This record gives sequence, C-alpha cells and structure tokens, in this order.
Amino acid sequence: MLPLDAHRPTWAEIDLDTLSRNLGAIRRRIGPRPILAVVKANAYGHGAAEVARSLETEGVERFGVAIPEEGIELRRAGIRAPILVLGGFAPPQADLLLQHSLVPAIYRPDQVESLSSAATRRGVTAPAHLKVDTGMGRLGVPVADVPAFLEVFRRAPSIRLMGVFSHLAVADDPADPFTARQIDLFQEAIRALSAARLSPDEVHLANSAAIMDHPPAWLTLVRPGLVLYGYPPSAKVTPLPVHPVLSLKTRIIYIKEVPPGTTLGYGRTFEARRSTRVASLALGYDDGLPRLVSNRGHVLVRGRRAPVVGRVSMDLTTVDVTDVPGAALGDLVTIIGVCGHEALGADQVAAWAETISWEVLCGIGSRVPRVYVRGSERRVVSRFGEPEA
Ligand SMILES: Cc1ncc(COP(=O)(O)O)c(C=O)c1O
Repeated sequence: MLPLDAHRPTWAEIDLDTLSRNLGAIRRRIGPRPILAVVKANAYGHGAAEVARSLETEGVERFGVAIPEEGIELRRAGIRAPILVLGGFAPPQADLLLQHSLVPAIYRPDQVESLSSAATRRGVTAPAHLKVDTGMGRLGVPVADVPAFLEVFRRAPSIRLMGVFSHLAVADDPADPFTARQIDLFQEAIRALSAARLSPDEVHLANSAAIMDHPPAWLTLVRPGLVLYGYPPSAKVTPLPVHPVLSLKTRIIYIKEVPPGTTLGYGRTFEARRSTRVASLALGYDDGLPRLVSNRGHVLVRGRRAPVVGRVSMDLTTVDVTDVPGAALGDLVTIIGVCGHEALGADQVAAWAETISWEVLCGIGSRVPRVYVRGSERRVVSRFGEPEA
C-alpha cells in the first residue's frame, strides 16, 4: 500500500486556536471597542461559515461581507450577530436584505429608495450604514456631497442610519500622510451628519493596518480582515503578535529521476542541467499556488526547500527534490505553513507571485478541502462531501 491518502492528498488546515489568539491580540491592541470581523471572500479563503461560527463563539460582535449572498451564507450557517454588507447591494436585493437581517452599506439614491420601499412594505425600519468616500475612490458618497445625500435619506423614513464608514487607501504605509487626510475628511462627513441632526452609533474606518498604526481611525468599532488571519498588511506596519491561521498542504504523487536536458511542463520552461529528481505535487493554480511561482518559488519537503521547476499548471506542480535526502512518493509537502525549522507564509508566496497575501489566500480554490483544527479535534469540510483528512 502506498503512503498516500484515500483521496486527492491536498488540503488547507485552518487552526481555529490560532484564529482565537489573533483575535485576542487585536482586542489587546484596540481596547474595549467592538470588532467587525471581515469574512468576505469565504473568510479570505479560510471558509466563511466555520470561521464566523468560531469567531461568534469567541464573542466577535459583528461580521462584514462584501455582497448580500455572503451574508445569507452566514445566516444559513447559524450566525446571529449583525452582518454589514460592505459593498452595498443591487436595488432588487432590498427584500433579501430584510429577510435575512443584513445591514447594507448605502451610497446611491436608488439603494435608499429600494430599501426604504421594501421596509415600508414590510412595516419595518431598515438599518443601514452610509458609505463615504474619503479618498479610496471606489465606492461611497464624496464628503462634499454628503449633505445633499442626506436629503435623499430624509425622504426615506423607513431607513435608520445606524452607521457611517469609509475605507483607507494607504494605511499600510504608516509614513504616508494621506491616511491623516482621510481621517480628517471622515470627521468632516461626521460633522455634516451632526449638522443634519444625525448621529449614527457606529462610526468606523479602521482596517488591519489602521488597527496597527492609526489609533485616531479606531472610532467606535474596527474592521480587521487580514490580521485576523495572521498576516501583517505590509512590512512597514507595527507588528501585532499574530500567526498564520491557514496551512496549505499536499503530497508527492509521482517521483522520477530525469537526465540532463529533460524539459518539464507547459512551454518547456525548465530544462534539467543535472540528473534531477522531479516530484509531482497534487496541487496547481486552482488550489492556490499562483502560476507566477513557476521557476521562482519553493515548497517544503522533509524540512527542506524544494524549488518549483517548470510551470505551475491547473492541478499539478513539479518540484526539484534532488537535494532533499530521502524524498519519496507520498511525502507531505508544505506550500504555506511550517515544516521542521522552515516556514512559508502566504506573504512569501505573494512576493514570488508579484501579488499580495490577500490574493494568495482568496485564491485557494473551492475544491481544496478545509480541515478545521481546534485542540485535538479535526473537522473536514469539503465541497465533495466528507473525505478523510
Ligand atoms: C470596507 C473594508 N473594511 C475592512 C476591510 C479589511 O481589510 P484588511 O484585510 O486590510 O484588514 C476590507 C477589506 O478589503 C474592506 O473592504
């Protein structure tokens, strides 16, 4: 019997104890204010339902998603805490928001109108957060237009403006003065609300980077994403004692020795210069190893680094294990995580792939089973049912 699992031996391990410790590190930094945990994009690849359930048990007060569908997924998973839909909604989704008790960001008059009509039809008042653009330039009412936008709200009596927020563009560079400008502009928006006799309870601006370096952005609640999952938003921020929650693992599913001159993979981008032991891994770019890591990055086998050789393809990757003594069929391979004295982070993979940790984590495909670990418990969640881990 080969030392392979009874299924495709590729999985992401999510350490819920580490998640809980990261939450503790954030709480120690920001004091008693509530936390809105950002769990959009399947909780940055970690699995939204499981992560939110775990964080809710740990006392996280609110959750943030990008789109209503993600909020509904959390409700179906039993999440009861308030859920803010950070990206807003399409007007026809107003009823869905109310049905699932989702609180949307609002920044367009047609959103105000559709939410207000849906709320009036149901005989309820719909809570919403006003999204203000202070410099990110994507979504949100520009600060100068806030007074005019508040007039739209005035004509919509079934909406209660319970929050106002904005998003920071360069908080991961503590030396950039633009963040202070955004904070000032946000205060100007809050003054415009006060002038209209509106004082929402929830006033928020801080992403992970602002939690680390911009206390004036903490306001009434903070919205950590990346730092919850254990990564700093950049090398410039003041570190918090957090650790990566997710490990990505696979195994060698084929191994062979090839003579010098042999080429590997699509495009034949690698040619062996020596007699080379080539290991094929059961993982490709759909599983979270970006194609740009081809011929650049490495993985960990038996506590050693094995360079990626040839192109990463959709389902498979080849690595050079010539310098890994004893490397064999079935060996565990760490793409992200700790192996012996070596460790690889999503930030390192991101550097090879010329991207950011966020994208690497979100890029771990849905076919990769997630194995949730808490103490000695392990629970497998797979799109295909329940494989053994
Ligand atoms: C509006 C908003 N707030 C907070 C966050 C969390 O950001 P980060 O992962 O940098 O903490 C995001 C993520 O992009 C966001 O879109």
